[in-house]
Amino acid sequence: MSSEVLDRGLVLDAVRVTEAAAIAAWNLAGRGDEIAADQAAVDAMRTALNDLALDGEIVIGEGERDEAPMLYIGEKVGKGGKIKIDIALDPLEGTTLTAKAMPNALAVMAWAPKGTLLHAPDTYMDKIACGPGYPPGIIDLDASPADNVRALARARGVEPSEITVCVLDRPRHAEIIASLREVGARVYLIGDGDIAGVINTADPTTGIDLYLGSGGAPEGVLACAALKCVGGQFQGRLMFRNADERARAARAGITDLDKKYDLHEMVRADAIFAATGVTKGALLDGVKFEGGFVHTHTLVMNSATRAVREVRMKRPI
Ligand code: FBP
Repeated sequence: MSSEVLDRGLVLDAVRVTEAAAIAAWNLAGRGDEIAADQAAVDAMRTALNDLALDGEIVIGEGERDEAPMLYIGEKVGKGGKIKIDIALDPLEGTTLTAKAMPNALAVMAWAPKGTLLHAPDTYMDKIACGPGYPPGIIDLDASPADNVRALARARGVEPSEITVCVLDRPRHAEIIASLREVGARVYLIGDGDIAGVINTADPTTGIDLYLGSGGAPEGVLACAALKCVGGQFQGRLMFRNADERARAARAGITDLDKKYDLHEMVRADAIFAATGVTKGALLDGVKFEGGFVHTHTLVMNSATRAVREVRMKRPI
């Protein structure tokens, strides 16, 4: 399975899809309506996907069939054809950010050969990630935040105080944050958007060394697709708050509810990852309408070639 590679020509198709979602979401940015912004992105992404000559199945989407009329888990998209792919998507990563016109909202998607992406249910996942260049197994979800910081610091030959850790700013992370501060690490808190939080660990210009904390499991799969392209380590474990969430996992075919997944178990073959900025952020510029044109900025990566591209699109309005 891991030898399967997607056609390189799909890279630009993926860009078109996230561009369409980002432009649609941007039209609703700052209007205080998260649902409308998300719906606009979903509609645009679905239309763009259905315009492509591929046989795609949504494995990470807007929810289960009975709760999401579009881009639900199991929905088939594309015009059909020989290319059979699993699709993970988050048409609007940062619905609140978009509704408030705050930075860092993205339209995100990953493609991999059919049957190679973890069918993560819509639950939380405990996550830890670091960028490339460390020995395998340097981070461990089951070690304390402080021990993970010490391990990275030792590998880098620096003091723990020189390690920066990105964490979603949530009350549930109070203990993690306290442990990080006790060891002297710098804590970089984000309001939303843990896909970008994870990707930032692989980009030395961000200064972020480690990502820690719980967030959406679907976002975990998307983040793994990105890390698969640029290198880095990730571990995740599904979290369940009730019987309904455990049932979701069962419907997704997950039997070992306590399993600690690593990156290559979540994305089991080469993948294409694309993200277009909706609002301007650390990773990407946002959509702009300027001088009679719409401008977009997209990051697109292919793990098979390790090619990382930034694509700027400009089209008359
Ligand atoms: P949405 O765009 O769906 O609102 O997700 C934003 C996000 O911050 C994700 O990046 C993250 O995984 C999740 O929400 C965290 O969930 P919560 O806001 O419940 O802590």
